[in-house]
Amino acid sequence: MKAQLAIFASGNGSNAQAIIDACKQGIINADVAIIITDNPNAFIIKRAVKENIECKIFKPKVFTDKLSYEKEILKLLTALNIEWIVLAGYMRLIGTVLLTAYPKKILNIHPSLLPKYKGLNAIKQAIDNNDNELGVTIHYVDEGVDTGEIIEQEKITIEDLNLPIEEIEAMVHSVEHKLYVTTLQKLIN
Ligand code: GAR
Repeated sequence: MKAQLAIFASGNGSNAQAIIDACKQGIINADVAIIITDNPNAFIIKRAVKENIECKIFKPKVFTDKLSYEKEILKLLTALNIEWIVLAGYMRLIGTVLLTAYPKKILNIHPSLLPKYKGLNAIKQAIDNNDNELGVTIHYVDEGVDTGEIIEQEKITIEDLNLPIEEIEAMVHSVEHKLYVTTLQKLIN
């Protein structure tokens, strides 16, 4: 039986794409059953259409509070028998409803060697700090911002911090795509 995954994403969705590709190729023994986004303009929506994967937009503002927002998402996840929630650039904190329903089953990826540089623009934070030790972390999600038990980390040493930030970001993203796939493979297969 293939595990059923839900991917949560707010933006480009390049990590989501790497996971979708790995599922399609049988590298990860799972199906991406649904993509959930909080951003109606996210590029991930176009990817979902192209991949023929159901995509639901949940705008938090439409709900009275986080509880009702997450309860609505949970209904859908339950109906689809989702076992794992994979955050891939989902820029929102997960609350008690989903944390309680999915203990140790919600994963996040972050572009730094956590606990360094939590939050937004982690790569820029490292560069601004003149720190050439970048990296990628995959961790279980808890109620904090990029906190939670670390599962895998990979260090990326940047020789020249004066490179255009886009080049540095591309290096980090390519490590992210590989590390998310191998980690999911270990956890799920
Ligand atoms: C990734 O670099 C991911 O690590 C980061 O957002 C980017 C999403 O890219 N996540 C965080 O910073 C979480 N705090 P993608 O949409 O192309 O996968």
